[in-house]
Parts: sequence; structure tokens; C-alpha cells
Amino acid sequence: MGSEEDPRDYDFSRKMFKTGFVVAAVSGILMWLLMFVWVFGFTGGVSWGTDSKTEINLHVILMTVFMVYLQGHGAIIFRTLPSRPKIQVKLIHAGFHLSTVIAVSIGLWSAVRAHDMKGQPHFFTLHSWIGIIAIVLFYGQFLAGFFIFLLPYAPMRLRNFALPYHKFMGPLIFLTSCTAAATGMMMKALGALSGGLYEQRTAAGVTINFAALFLLIFCLTVTYLVLEPRFKRRPRPEGEMLLSDSGGSQ
Ligand code: HEM
Ligand code: HEM
Repeated sequence: MGSEEDPRDYDFSRKMFKTGFVVAAVSGILMWLLMFVWVFGFTGGVSWGTDSKTEINLHVILMTVFMVYLQGHGAIIFRTLPSRPKIQVKLIHAGFHLSTVIAVSIGLWSAVRAHDMKGQPHFFTLHSWIGIIAIVLFYGQFLAGFFIFLLPYAPMRLRNFALPYHKFMGPLIFLTSCTAAATGMMMKALGALSGGLYEQRTAAGVTINFAALFLLIFCLTVTYLVLEPRFKRRPRPEGEMLLSDSGGSQ
């Protein structure tokens, strides 16, 4: 397919990808900006170990920015930077996911502390179940990716065997993370706006509803960008293969 592709089709696919990328980036930024407004404008800001009411807010920020926004950009980075050498893109991909691993560990810790400070048991909500599944899968994918694709020790046969599973699991983990974030927003809205405030469509309620809508747009757009075969990383037809790495080495 690659060698027979018309360069005009390639250029058109790149344009489509770039349009999708802008939609994803704008909706993702609006999502986390609105969550900042929610946290700092309506629910008292962030704290660490000092106030049981605001302890969960660091979790909210870190999960939205890293587990959703950065994970999404990390997933499509091979397609976002098609002509950069593969090793560079691999390092950026791994770097995005490493910072997400660190931020998510702090975010999880902050949610666990929020429960402890309120004397609540752990992991009884649907949100926490979906959330912990997303986190465990994410850690597993990171470790597998790190040892198989980044360190130079894995044999090529193992790399070739593991790659389709890695590419299959990536979008699933991302979608599970988005579901966790949506259920988290729902729960936070119902909890913080109890006593009729949500029903009255106050600014706080509308803010978190819009954040969740932008989350949905971000999630669907990134999933499309990462699954559409026409957006796969490949050289531009017409001899560019001679200039750049074709993206073939795992
Ligand atoms: C991908 C993103 C997310 C993941 C993986 C995640 C994961 C988790 C986990 C595992 C817990 C349980 C902690 C415990 O039981 O000790 C939790 C708690 C909580 N999370 Fe999230 N979360 C995410 C996003 C969010 C967002 C965006 C919000 C709010 C806007 C949120 C709000 C909460 C709240 C209020 C709790 C405490 C109540 C409960 O345990 O369900 N989370 N989260
Ligand atoms: C939790 C962490 C990770 C997630 C969620 C993840 C997710 C993904 C996704 C969604 C893709 C498909 C990209 C595409 O088709 O354009 C992918 C591809 C890939 N990932 Fe990861 N990844 C993670 C960690 C890593 C790590 C640590 C490495 C090590 C360098 C790595 C190496 C690769 C490679 C080599 C590809 C193939 C790119 C290609 O040939 O098109 N991944 N990953």
C-alpha cells in the first residue's frame, strides 16, 4: 500500500490529522482550564494534608491534566511527529508517559489521603474501581513498553510480537482513563453541589458539565486519531524514504 500511495492522498490525510489534532488540543485545554476554574474558583483550591475538604482537589487536577490530557497527546505523538527520527519520538512518547506515571501516583496518593482524613473506607465507589483498573493497566503498559521497546535488550522477535498488543492496549487504557475521569466529575459535582445547587444550574455546575463535555470531545477525537490507519506514521511518498527512517524499527 505504502509505495503505491498517491502523494495527494498523503497530503490530504495529513491535513485531516492536523484538523483533528487542533480539535483535540483545544477541547483538551478547555477541559483542564475549566477544571482549574472548578477547583480554584468554586471548591477552595488545593491542599496537602491540611484540609479534608480540599484534599481531593490535587487528585482532580493531576488526573485531568496527566491521566487524560497528557496521556492522549502521548498516544498520538508518533502520528503528530511523522518525520522526526523514530528514536526521538519514542523518547518523547516514553517521557510523556513517565511524567504521567509520576503525577498519577501522587494523584492516587492524594485521593487515598482524602479518604483517610474523612475516615472513609477505600475503593467502594464505581469511580474508584474504574480508576484503579485504569491505573494498574497504565503502570503495566508503561513497564512493558519500557523494557521491551526502550531498553536495547529485548530481541526483535519479542518486539514484533509485543507491538500489536501494545498498540491495542494503548487506546483501551486511554478510554478507561477517560471513563474514570467522567465518573469522577459526575461524583464530584453531585457531592460538592448537594442541597439543590446542581439542580439550580449554578455557575459551578455548568462549569463542571462543560468540562465533562470537552473531556468527551477530547477523548473521541484522540481515539479517532490513534485508530485511523490513514494517519499512521509513514514516510511521504516520492522518495522521502531515502531521507528519513520509515518508522519500521520497534
Ligand atoms: C483518569 C482519571 C482518574 C483516575 C484514574 C481516578 C482514580 C481514583 C481512585 C483509584 C480513587 C479511589 C481512592 C480511594 O478509594 O482511596 C479516586 C477517588 C476519587 N476521585 Fe478520582 N480518578 C480520576 C479522575 C478524577 C476526576 C477528574 C475527579 C473529579 C473531577 C475525581 C474525583 C474523585 C473523588 C471525589 C474521589 C473520592 C471518592 C471515591 O473514592 O470515589 N477523580 N479516584
Ligand atoms: C503507559 C504507557 C504507554 C501507553 C499508554 C502507550 C500507548 C501507545 C499507543 C496508543 C501507541 C499507538 C501509537 C500509534 O499507533 O500511532 C503506542 C505505540 C508505541 N509505543 Fe507506547 N505506550 C506507553 C508506553 C510506552 C513506552 C514506555 C515505550 C518505550 C519506548 C513505548 C513504545 C512504543 C512504540 C515503539 C510504539 C510503536 C509506534 C509505531 O510503530 O507506530 N510505549 N503506544
